[in-house]
Amino acid sequence: MPAEPLLSAESLAKGFGEGEARVELFSGLSLELGAGEAAAIVGPSGCGKSTLLHLLAGLDSPDAGRVLVDGRDWTTLPPEPRAKWRGEAVGFVFQLHHLLPELTAEENVALPLLLAGSPEGPARSAARELLSRVGLSRQAGAFPRVLSGGERQRVAIARAVVRSPRLLLCDEPTGSLDAAHAADVLDLLLGAARERAGALLLVTHDPGVASRCGSVRTLTPAGLSAG
Ligand SMILES: Nc1ncnc2c1ncn2[C@@H]1O[C@H](COP(=O)(O)OP(=O)(O)O)[C@@H](O)[C@H]1O
Ligand SMILES: [Mg+2]
Repeated sequence: MPAEPLLSAESLAKGFGEGEARVELFSGLSLELGAGEAAAIVGPSGCGKSTLLHLLAGLDSPDAGRVLVDGRDWTTLPPEPRAKWRGEAVGFVFQLHHLLPELTAEENVALPLLLAGSPEGPARSAARELLSRVGLSRQAGAFPRVLSGGERQRVAIARAVVRSPRLLLCDEPTGSLDAAHAADVLDLLLGAARERAGALLLVTHDPGVASRCGSVRTLTPAGLSAG
C-alpha cells in the first residue's frame, strides 16, 4: 500500500463575492503530495494561486471540499486548535512577506519558536543560524522597514522553516530575488523538505524554479493540471 500523502486536498472549490459580482476561482480541485515531494504551481496572475495556498494552510476556508495534512482534516477545526496545528505543521511564506514591523529580522525569525515555548537564547541562536544560511547575518538586528524587498523575502523564508514544519507552502518565494539568491533559497527549501520527509509546494512564475521541483501543475478553473 502506498503511504498516506502528507498533503491531500479533495474537491476544493473557492470563489469570492455575491450575486452578479461573484467570481468562482476553481472547483473540483484535488491534490496529493507525498513525504519528500516538491511541486510547483503555476498560472496567470489572479487565477487563485495565493487563495489556494491559504486554503491548504487553513488560513481561509473552502466553499466545498477538504484538506488533510498527515491524515488530519483541519478545515473543520475551530480557530484556536487550527492555529496551533498550523504553527506546528506548516511553514508559510506569504507573497507579501508579512514580517512584523516592530521586530528585528532575528526576532521575526525567532518568533515561531518563542510562541511554541522555546527559551529565548536557543530561539535567537536558531534564528541567527538561519539568517546566515540565507545570507543575512549582517542584517539580523535590522528592522523590516530598512530591508530591501529581497532581504525581507529571505527573512520570511527563514521564519517559515525555523520550526522544521513538515509542510512548506511558499507563495512566490523567489519573486523578489536575483538568480543567485533564488537558487540558494530554493536549495534551502528543497533541502528542508527532503531532510524531514516533508513536502514543499510553491507558487512561482519562474520556469527555472518550477523545473527544480519534482512536478509542475497549472491552476485552472477546473483544478490542477499537469505541466
Ligand atoms: N479575500 C478576498 N475577497 C475578494 N476577492 C478576493 C479575495 N482574495 C482574493 N480575491 C480575488 O481572487 C482572485 C485570485 O486572487 P489570488 O489568489 O491572489 O490570485 P493569484 O495569487 O493567482 O494572483 C483575484 O481576482 C482576487 O482579487
Ligand atoms: Mg498570488
